[in-house]
Amino acid sequence: MDDRPIGVFDSGFGGLTVARAMIDLLPAEDIVYVADTGRYPYGPRLLDEVRDFARQITASLVASHDVKMVVVACNTAAAAALDLLRFEYEVPLVGVIDPGVRAAIKATTTRRIGVIGTVGTIASGAYQRAVAAQRAHIHLTCAACPGFVEFVERGETRSDQVHVLAERLLAPLRQDRVDTLLLGCTHYPFLARTIGDVMGRDVVLVSSADETAFEVRAILADTGLGRRSAGKGVHRWISSGDTASFRELGRRLFGPEIDDVEQWVPSH
Ligand code: DGL
Repeated sequence: MDDRPIGVFDSGFGGLTVARAMIDLLPAEDIVYVADTGRYPYGPRLLDEVRDFARQITASLVASHDVKMVVVACNTAAAAALDLLRFEYEVPLVGVIDPGVRAAIKATTTRRIGVIGTVGTIASGAYQRAVAAQRAHIHLTCAACPGFVEFVERGETRSDQVHVLAERLLAPLRQDRVDTLLLGCTHYPFLARTIGDVMGRDVVLVSSADETAFEVRAILADTGLGRRSAGKGVHRWISSGDTASFRELGRRLFGPEIDDVEQWVPSH
């Protein structure tokens, strides 16, 4: 048994969708959540730069917070850095791409799956590779959705503007008649109503959050790293941007558990 916390990070609010699933499934675990809101969005950046950010955050989680596991709750960071981080660190590292692909393959009945993500994630080819590795004969349609993350980070999840943007960006997926749409960016579940309205009732939206939480639970069980105490875990919230805004929007998107937000200044 191991009472150290689990580290979770994202460029901003998106990873909260994964943190929510983890807290629901593993309520006794302590969590340290880092939102790199000072440097969001990651999607339009070069993957090399995102890799550096992911390495900095992981180093801080391991060195300053003594985490027992790191969940890269950001598709762009996972696409850029997960393999490297697994090589560099001894603690288990969990990404969101493979769990999302598994969940989408479970959900599809026609084998026509769509995946949407940031420009960085889609251009990296990470989803195309992860789906091919499953050898499930999937017809995959990929689309980048630049702008979606910015709407979420502004707290604008249901406006006419986001609906118009969704109509345009999701058109290729409707045309390709996907029956399952994988939300390949952890911010996108916050836009699920808009995305669902545009895609129609017959398309199943899949997020990687639950499947990622199941993977975390399986690793804790296999490695014996689960927390000894059965009490409620402590959750810490850390932001590299403005902590007051993270607290305010975080409470709206996630709930009143986001109370104290600590400042993190990345060293360059
Ligand atoms: N939540 C991140 C992801 O899953 C969003 C990235 C961004 O900052 O653009 O890709």
